[in-house]
Amino acid sequence: MVTAIIVAAGSGVRMGEGPPKQYRLLSGKPLLCHALSAFDRADCVDRLVLVTPKEEKLSVIRPIMERSPVKKPLALALGGDCRQGSVYNGLLASDPATEIVLVHDAARPFVSAAETARCVAAARAHGAAVLAHPASDTIKCADEEGRVLETLDRSRLWQVQTPQAFSFRLLLEAHEKALEEGFSGTDDAALVERLGRPVLLVFGSRWNIKITGPDDLLIAEAIMAARRGKLP
Ligand code: CTP
Ligand code: MG
Repeated sequence: MVTAIIVAAGSGVRMGEGPPKQYRLLSGKPLLCHALSAFDRADCVDRLVLVTPKEEKLSVIRPIMERSPVKKPLALALGGDCRQGSVYNGLLASDPATEIVLVHDAARPFVSAAETARCVAAARAHGAAVLAHPASDTIKCADEEGRVLETLDRSRLWQVQTPQAFSFRLLLEAHEKALEEGFSGTDDAALVERLGRPVLLVFGSRWNIKITGPDDLLIAEAIMAARRGKLP
């Protein structure tokens, strides 16, 4: 069984004023619905878990789900104080028969079924796999005053995206160890890496952007329009 956890419990501080970004409309549909329906369509996914803000009443999410229903079994979980806590709550709400779990940001509306299938296959073979794209900009390390300390070797740098796919038991163990030891990572793979377990990179597309600030919503609308054939 493959379960996809979609984390949508953030407060979208970098998006600025207005409703949390997971509810902002992209092509007339709340952002989180795009990711949910991508996994609903993906043949390799059996079940869905949606993690929503903890202070939120079901009254917010119910009308959204009524307008954009999913066909696959859907469980709801409450978010944590940080992304890692939200994923952990999603793991606890997953069917215990899950073998492979996918973790995905609701803020990435353009994930494809083919990318999802490649991640699942790689996680079955290696235990953990993340979608990633080679860094296209040169990346430098700097101190707090903005003085460059080091230029990193770009040929070895990858920008990591979601979905990230794992053996369910491995990810649960990695989260529990991180919780016990007070470690917080910026993605789930980092928690598996610190167990000394391999994580495979799966080549992803540059379309799979994360909506972070207001500009990203404009870019996302342009991508949607291009897909509908309305842009050159
Ligand atoms: N997320 C979550 N629970 C949290 C924090 C984040 O489920 N406590 C989710 C977000 O909803 C988003 C994904 O993790 O889908 C990636 O996080 P990010 O892009 O940082 O979103 P926000 O945390 O909402 O935005 P910001 O950091 O600007 O506040
Ligand atoms: Mg955040």
